[in-house]
Amino acid sequence: MATSKQLQLLEYPAYALEVREGLSGAPKHLPAKLFYDEVGSQLFEQITELPEYYLTRTERSILERYAADILRQAGANLTLVELGAGTATKTCVLIEELVQRQSRTLFYPIDVSASALDEAVRNLAGQFPSLRVNPIVGDYTGGVPALSRISGRKLVLYIGSSIGNFEPPQAIRLLRRIRQTLRAGDALLLGADFAKSSKVLLPAYDDAQGVTAAFNKNILARLNRELDADFDLDAFRHIALWNRRCSRMEIYLERLADQPAFIPALDLDVHFKTGERIHTENSYKYTDAMIESILRESGFQLEHTWCDRKKWFGVHLARV
Ligand code: TRP
Repeated sequence: MATSKQLQLLEYPAYALEVREGLSGAPKHLPAKLFYDEVGSQLFEQITELPEYYLTRTERSILERYAADILRQAGANLTLVELGAGTATKTCVLIEELVQRQSRTLFYPIDVSASALDEAVRNLAGQFPSLRVNPIVGDYTGGVPALSRISGRKLVLYIGSSIGNFEPPQAIRLLRRIRQTLRAGDALLLGADFAKSSKVLLPAYDDAQGVTAAFNKNILARLNRELDADFDLDAFRHIALWNRRCSRMEIYLERLADQPAFIPALDLDVHFKTGERIHTENSYKYTDAMIESILRESGFQLEHTWCDRKKWFGVHLARV
């Protein structure tokens, strides 16, 4: 029989051990996937509407402006796949154009959130009668073997610049796994943020209203809610830095005083030095050369790049 302590541990979420590992060593870090609980997803939604956060609206405007071009270049009779589709709201621009070009269209949105996919199916079914939606619930980071069973020419969408949240070797591994489930002629549409002036990047990750700070701190709030931890959110400062050498934004939570925190679920005291940081996220900003290189190394060939007038964001079409 399990003791009461074991029973208690069983009730805690699976990520608890990653939290122990991340907060025990130096430098401290927490897994970025913890951002996206219900509160965090809502805060991120708010981030995408901030005046400083140009990424979402710039990508959307590129897709709106070039949807016809993109699909013409991608080829005829496409079956659409989307990695991390969520509710697929961004995809509608492309779908709208696609259903005008072909009489029947298959769409395979992939996401870890079954409820987001339900919403996608509901929205799309009403809007596009000739579209057949086959949602796949799951994590795409290890590749999606089921994709190899889809016949016909595929266009895989990986938009929203999530590729930037992977370390480049991991990004290559992910794209390679996707590439392995595709056939000659299939294509990938990749959305990625371009490297640019820190005058534009820093406010995008540290906005005047403090929404991004709240989003970052929600990781600790979540540990308080779900692991009974006692992090004092006011004792941490949100930090966003531009690391030009590595071409990435680095996001941290900095401890303002040196009191420890306690996480009952892990029976762990977390000690901080004043000014010590917890690393929570990297967001890589790609140059043309970096895009070319991760695509080439994962078995794709870059065919075309569409971007906005200031070249802040890029949508790249690559071919197997
Ligand atoms: N994918 C988003 C990005 O890298 C995530 C994000 C936006 C983010 N703002 C953030 C992650 C602040 C951590 C902290 O642009």
